[in-house]
Amino acid sequence: MTFYLHTYGCQMNVRDSEAAAALLVAAGHEPVAQERAADLVVVNSCSVRGKAEDKALGKLRLLVKSKRTHPGRLVGAMGCMVQRLGPALLDQVPGLDFAVGTRASRHLPPLVSAALAGAAGQLVLGTADDTDVPHGHLAATPSAYVTVLLGCNRRCAYCIVPEVRGPESSRPPRDIVAEVAARVADGVREVTLLGQSVLNYGRQGSDVWAGEPASPGGYREPFPRLIEAVSAIPGLARVRFTSGHPSGCSEELARAMAELAPVAPHLHLPVQSGSDAVLGRMRRGYTAAEYVAAVERLRQRVPDCAITTDIIVGFPGETESDFAATRALFEQVRFDNSFIFKYSPRPGTRAAEWPDDVPDAVKEHRNRVLLDDQDRIGLARNEAWVGRTTEVLAEGPSLRNPRRWSGRNGQGKIVVFAPVEGLQAGDCVRVRIERAKPQTLYGVIENRGMTS
Ligand code: 5AD
Ligand code: SF4
Repeated sequence: MTFYLHTYGCQMNVRDSEAAAALLVAAGHEPVAQERAADLVVVNSCSVRGKAEDKALGKLRLLVKSKRTHPGRLVGAMGCMVQRLGPALLDQVPGLDFAVGTRASRHLPPLVSAALAGAAGQLVLGTADDTDVPHGHLAATPSAYVTVLLGCNRRCAYCIVPEVRGPESSRPPRDIVAEVAARVADGVREVTLLGQSVLNYGRQGSDVWAGEPASPGGYREPFPRLIEAVSAIPGLARVRFTSGHPSGCSEELARAMAELAPVAPHLHLPVQSGSDAVLGRMRRGYTAAEYVAAVERLRQRVPDCAITTDIIVGFPGETESDFAATRALFEQVRFDNSFIFKYSPRPGTRAAEWPDDVPDAVKEHRNRVLLDDQDRIGLARNEAWVGRTTEVLAEGPSLRNPRRWSGRNGQGKIVVFAPVEGLQAGDCVRVRIERAKPQTLYGVIENRGMTS
């Protein structure tokens, strides 16, 4: 069959979709670039906020309707929302051919075969001890995601992720290194190591490094050892990872980020709130001062390190003074970028038992205020790049202006520049920055950088 995958949600879902597509290809199906050309459409769903689920549900219902004009079409769902809703999903989307939960997507090809043979409304959910998840991939792009840590062991009061993605499980370092090396051999230049709380890598259960040679750099903690091992793979230009938590921002992590040349000077470190009262109710496990100390530890060793964050506004009980504390934290940390979300109660989480008492208009207002703060701070931080030269991994023609190219520097900032003759996606170029906007840097290529 020809197939098309729709992906909602985070990078983890993007990665899972790619691995699922690789499974379908291995089973003889053929990916197509447009949904309308597909005999099989699968929606990889997200549960993080109510709106994300509404989108996936709406899309699935439309797809089921589209069977009338596409005879023989199959429609399936996968991912976090499937795992959360279980059998209820089949009631909410009548006509769905199959649904497969997180950690269970290896069942995708047999579910498709059974659906072709006439089975309807099939459902397979993942279980906590399912660690045999697919890690296949499609053709190489300059940049690739590699999952290193499944699931999440934290119990943040607002978050559905531990329920839908199960407990933490670290992949063996050998498997990760082998996957990255294989991708580099195919032309990948940059990898992003993924985990919901990636710095927790190797901190659960038995020692993932048992039996492996000692770290050449003398690192003892499992995650710094992992980025050291990945950085040693020849031909890999850049190593990124996401997401962080202050408890993992050790002195050793800072040293590894400073010493390992391929490791990008960027950490996505969700803070969620600047108020200790709210952080406590969220069960984040740190105070605002501890968060700031973690950022300072990194900046001490890696002065150019970009820090980006996530914020939730309108968490139950968030007062004006709690919100003021978040704004004060913005002024103190001066994030390079932030992603701001309005609180959305998720059934089954602790916070969902408390009244969702911040009116939507207030959430909306706080959201706008923080976006404006971030724009001002982001612009000032980006303006500090004007006149400096930065190394950019070229990605391809810019979406806004196809005569320009765009890429990202080590800090993860989008850099737009005029291409030179023979430039290819995946090339590293040195760009002198001439102009800045809150989200983008603009410059000119200085010379063809270290590699091409
Ligand atoms: N409501 C709003 N935002 C949420 N996030 C996680 N759960 C919720 C929720 N219930 C946000 C957090 C997290 C990001 C991926 O999504 O900021 O870091
Ligand atoms: Fe990713 Fe969380 Fe959404 Fe699942 S629920 S796709 S883990 S953001």
